[in-house]
Amino acid sequence: MFFYNFSESDGENMTVFVTGGAGFIGSNFIFYMVKKHPDYRIVCIDKLTYAGNLSTLEPVLNNENFRFVKLDICNREEIFKLFEEEAPSIVVNFAAESHVDRSIEDPGIFLKTNILGTQTLMDACRKYGIKRYHQVSTDEVYGDLPLDRPDMFFTEETPIHTSSPYSASKASADLLVQAYHRTFGLPITISRCSNNYGPYHFPEKLIPLMIANALNDKPLPVYGEGLNIRDWLYVEDHCKAIDMIIHDGKVGEVYNIGGHNEKTNIYIVKKILELLGKSEDLITFVTDRKGHDLRYAIDPAKIKRDLGWEPDTMFDDGIVKTVNWYLENREWWETIINGEYQNYYEKMYGNR
Ligand code: NAD
Ligand code: DAU
Repeated sequence: MFFYNFSESDGENMTVFVTGGAGFIGSNFIFYMVKKHPDYRIVCIDKLTYAGNLSTLEPVLNNENFRFVKLDICNREEIFKLFEEEAPSIVVNFAAESHVDRSIEDPGIFLKTNILGTQTLMDACRKYGIKRYHQVSTDEVYGDLPLDRPDMFFTEETPIHTSSPYSASKASADLLVQAYHRTFGLPITISRCSNNYGPYHFPEKLIPLMIANALNDKPLPVYGEGLNIRDWLYVEDHCKAIDMIIHDGKVGEVYNIGGHNEKTNIYIVKKILELLGKSEDLITFVTDRKGHDLRYAIDPAKIKRDLGWEPDTMFDDGIVKTVNWYLENREWWETIINGEYQNYYEKMYGNR
């Protein structure tokens, strides 16, 4: 095992592995990195599950500094081969099963990909050497906050306290990442971000699902009374934060990422209807999610203080940009919702 020190000056020799790069945040991160660091070689590793979409990466597929590899992060042999071949300096692990509702239906694949996949990547990092392994985690590892305590926020010291199989799998991975740092000296960082929104968000998630349903004049299924609160961050701001952490973040540290954009779900849904000029009669209250977290709210003081990160996009602008993106890119999401997604939708919402 060998590790080396990182400096921005070796940009030309920099190879970055981005796992899960055909998904929502990973693809936005690739676009961000290609623009910001055109001399870096980016290798995207993605299994192309239902959530991965190669067509999303079309704008960079022919870029000479970009390579796409269809591969499961749990496939130890092939992952090791790829490390040997490409000798990455940095690994940013986005690859995961990411949808809470699916984890409630079928937890097994969440444990496999999110925990064992993380282990496989870190074992390869140990064997071949790495400047930085970055784990993209989530605020859901902290559990939830009460609705009547707006003064409370998640800090990096908030105890891990998970609610869903998804969040438990992400928390397990975080613990494993910290263990590899302490036991093997692996140079890791972890980021825990709040809810993202923006282009290429898979339409099983709240914002794109509501936009797609509203545009198709279908009912908008709001869980419970719609009073749960999420802290929304425009995806590009998340990408910017990760870029800062992998370059300037301190090895071994956890960084929370969020921009104080807390909204109730019902506020979001009504806002989308208003922007699309659709009637609130489309709103349908349905059976609540099991174990539904009440409120997420990030305290981003550490990343602001230590790295100077601040979000550029506040919710009122970001939601307009997002709705416009879905209006202008109908083919992208219509292709998805006209496929296997229909079975998923029927199963999850048919009798809800
Ligand atoms: P996503 O579901 O849109 O994308 C996941 C990607 O990972 C897909 O391209 C999929 O094909 C790929 N993938 C899944 N299993 C794989 C495997 N075994 N091997 C290789 N590739 C695999 O997810 P997302 O919303 O872009 O989330 C990305 C990461 O960010 C996840 O780790 C998630 O936990 C974390 N996160 C998401 C949010 C959010 O609001 N979406 C917020 C905080 C953190
Ligand atoms: O906080 C970060 C997390 O945000 C990420 O780690 C997850 O990967 C990501 O999926 C997201 O999790 P949420 O469960 O918060 O996101 P989702 O879009 O599934 O739901 C947002 C809120 O909207 C939640 O309170 C449930 C509610 N909801 C969701 C759907 C899909 C509805 O009311 N109706 C719906 O149809």
